[in-house]
Amino acid sequence: MPLVYCGACSHAPGITGRAERADTQTRQALEGAFRRMGDDIRATGPDALVVIAAEHFANFFMNNMPAFAIGMADSYEGPIEDEAFLRIRRTTVPGNRDLSRRLIEQVMQTVDVAYAEEWKFDHGISVPLHFLTPDYDLPIVPANINCQGPPLAPLARAWAFGEALRRAADAVPERIALIGTGGLSHWPATPDSGKINQEWDREFLRRWSANDREALLSYTDAEIYREAGQGGFEIRTFIAAAAAAGGARGTVDFCEPVPIFAVSCTLGSFQLRPTAQ
Ligand SMILES: [Fe+2]
Repeated sequence: MPLVYCGACSHAPGITGRAERADTQTRQALEGAFRRMGDDIRATGPDALVVIAAEHFANFFMNNMPAFAIGMADSYEGPIEDEAFLRIRRTTVPGNRDLSRRLIEQVMQTVDVAYAEEWKFDHGISVPLHFLTPDYDLPIVPANINCQGPPLAPLARAWAFGEALRRAADAVPERIALIGTGGLSHWPATPDSGKINQEWDREFLRRWSANDREALLSYTDAEIYREAGQGGFEIRTFIAAAAAAGGARGTVDFCEPVPIFAVSCTLGSFQLRPTAQ
């Protein structure tokens, strides 16, 4: 079936782990935006949610770092972090091995994607799911782009991965929803944590909302590192989601800088063209 939902959101561990340290109104608005996104995803009647994440050395390491990976299991566990730190109870999250395998077989027609039969979700997936599917009742297909260990997947390849996922989602009979999750400018786990380049974020989101492929792919890693920090490399997940949207325009539903969460918390979605479903 044609992709039924496509969006992107932030995943900072502070969103759950130190929620009360943010301005109350901002936090409530952010959580409301997450819940609305969850409602919107559910309203499309999806059979599975593909989550394109940027994991943080929880499953993939420098001894063998895949540029792209997709999970292929009937269940996953998360969060891998300390439950008290993240304030999310560790749980089993449903997957769909058979669906994953068919998606992978399609994606690998054009992208050399790794696949993993075991995957422990870190905050990059667990924080969004905490709000989007709090009952963990929607099968998840985790996907990952290497945004952590240079040399990183080039932006153009992240785009190609998003396009390949779209082709794969369209080719299977199931109704597939997809989100990317990552940060815009941020400097997590560094002395600059809490710094946010709002101007850079605004310009990125302008390009993202317009689904302007050329502008989105024109960033260099040197520029991203200088203007948006090492956390900015995670824009690859937003870029892959834009590619999966197939040219559709996006709307930024929420974007507020929250220094204690170390990032501008952002949620957005694409207006997929209506199709006969
Ligand atoms: Fe991250």
